[in-house]
Amino acid sequence: MRTGLLRHSEHMDFLRSVPTFKGLPEETLSKIADVLEEAHYNNGDYIIRQGARGDTFYIIAKGKVKVTKRNSKTQEDQVIRLLQKGDFFGERALQGEDVRTANIISADPTGVDCLVIDRDSYLQLISTLDDLKQIYEDEEDKAGVDTEYAKLKL
Ligand code: CMP
Repeated sequence: MRTGLLRHSEHMDFLRSVPTFKGLPEETLSKIADVLEEAHYNNGDYIIRQGARGDTFYIIAKGKVKVTKRNSKTQEDQVIRLLQKGDFFGERALQGEDVRTANIISADPTGVDCLVIDRDSYLQLISTLDDLKQIYEDEEDKAGVDTEYAKLKL
């Protein structure tokens, strides 16, 4: 069985290996490792559902996920992109409105492991990172996905 201390140092090592997080001070990485939870998802599980409320942020520790969005014209979900180990998701519902803007679906035969961080810790420790201020609009335009979908559903 892994001890809490070993898990903490494994999580620190992992966070240091992720380009987005490696620039953070050791103290911040340590605080993130203190608060995060591990979660496992089976292939095909919905980790996040578009339109739902949410207050958690995720870093992929193992496996791949699909990002899909509802196209309001066809009413079908379209794959926007794949995310993998070291990528993160779930930040948008923590920035302003708390509604999820896309589906996140586990897409790995052996399942997906995520490190999960709650809203308060995200806001305190992570939200200032430049990499988190990504703009997705270009891809959404290309895919013809209605970015207002989540708001219209409210
Ligand atoms: P959130 O809206 O909280 O939940 C769904 C997540 O999917 C979202 O945060 C982003 O992390 C991610 N996401 C939304 N749109 C895109 C996109 N076009 N490309 C990649 N990731 C996206």
